[in-house]
Amino acid sequence: MNPTEFNIPADRLPALLRAMPKAELHMHIEGSLEPELIFALARRNGVTLPYASVEELRKAYAFTNLQSFLDIYYAGASVLLEEQDFYDMAWAYLERAAADNVVRTEMFFDPQTHTARGVDIGTVIDGLHRACADAEARLGVSAALILCFLRHLSEDEAFETLEQALPYRDKFIGIGLDSSELGHPPEKFARVFARCHELGLHLVAHAGEEGPPEFVWSALDVLKVERVDHGVQSAKDPALMQRLAQDRIPLTVCPLSNLKLCVFPDLAQHNLNTLLDAGLVATVNSDDPAYFGGYMNENFLQTFAATGLTAQHAWQLAANSFEGSFIGEEKKRAYIERLDACFASFSGV
Ligand code: HPA
Ligand code: ZN
Repeated sequence: MNPTEFNIPADRLPALLRAMPKAELHMHIEGSLEPELIFALARRNGVTLPYASVEELRKAYAFTNLQSFLDIYYAGASVLLEEQDFYDMAWAYLERAAADNVVRTEMFFDPQTHTARGVDIGTVIDGLHRACADAEARLGVSAALILCFLRHLSEDEAFETLEQALPYRDKFIGIGLDSSELGHPPEKFARVFARCHELGLHLVAHAGEEGPPEFVWSALDVLKVERVDHGVQSAKDPALMQRLAQDRIPLTVCPLSNLKLCVFPDLAQHNLNTLLDAGLVATVNSDDPAYFGGYMNENFLQTFAATGLTAQHAWQLAANSFEGSFIGEEKKRAYIERLDACFASFSGV
């Protein structure tokens, strides 16, 4: 359908952004741990935190770059020990996702953050997967897991993690690459990504968040990823922009994350509209919503308010999220029909 047929008044745009069905393709489940839940789990598990209160922890959320965030993010995850902890964390996120009309979510998890503390990988995957199954049944949210390797660790450690995860192969759909980008180019993980490709796993990687366009090129050409997480630095390289548009490689953009980690000085200067207007399959995502000030709808609302994106862009972003998701063509078509019906209801057509 052609959304320009719809004539949606500007003052209805926020309600439309909230109501439209959408997919989330870039969120770290450990980044959905709200301070209240961190403290509740710390009490339940007898873990001592280096912060006296929820308020004190929240005050520490003043980041200057990716690394300053990661240090606090890994400290927050230290309260996760039991299967039920992983379930509770994922369930809290999935309820919020459902409230934002997220109908499909592909959630990252960082097993190495937990196995390094002696938590069995099965405890992590079983707890998260049980929440995903319940979300489908009780919330009508289709949820899947993507295992991320920490790029500040070695490729051998990634291989070890993959080995540990293989007994749970049916509980995750793909692999990704996250953590500190600078100093850790994608090609460091060429062999483990090739192995995961042989195993039939979907491949994604963070690239071009703080790192240069060259990292996006190597994510595509060396790792052979199907989607690029962030990728906003691609706008500095016209040939790369052309490649991403031509091959319809989705970029999972996270506006509030980019703001909080100082990738852009303010939201009005975010390049999401440039990416969309160049024909890229850009999407909006929350990354680490408990740390960056908002879940999906907050990302849409604040970005649209700051940049002047239109209802046409909203339709494109939601359609892109379904196109970029790892679901079958028939399901994609069904979601886009739901999207069209939502737009029709707002335009009164
Ligand atoms: N970038 C890299 N690693 C991460 C992020 C991110 O935005 N969030 C959680 N781990
Ligand atoms: Zn991320």
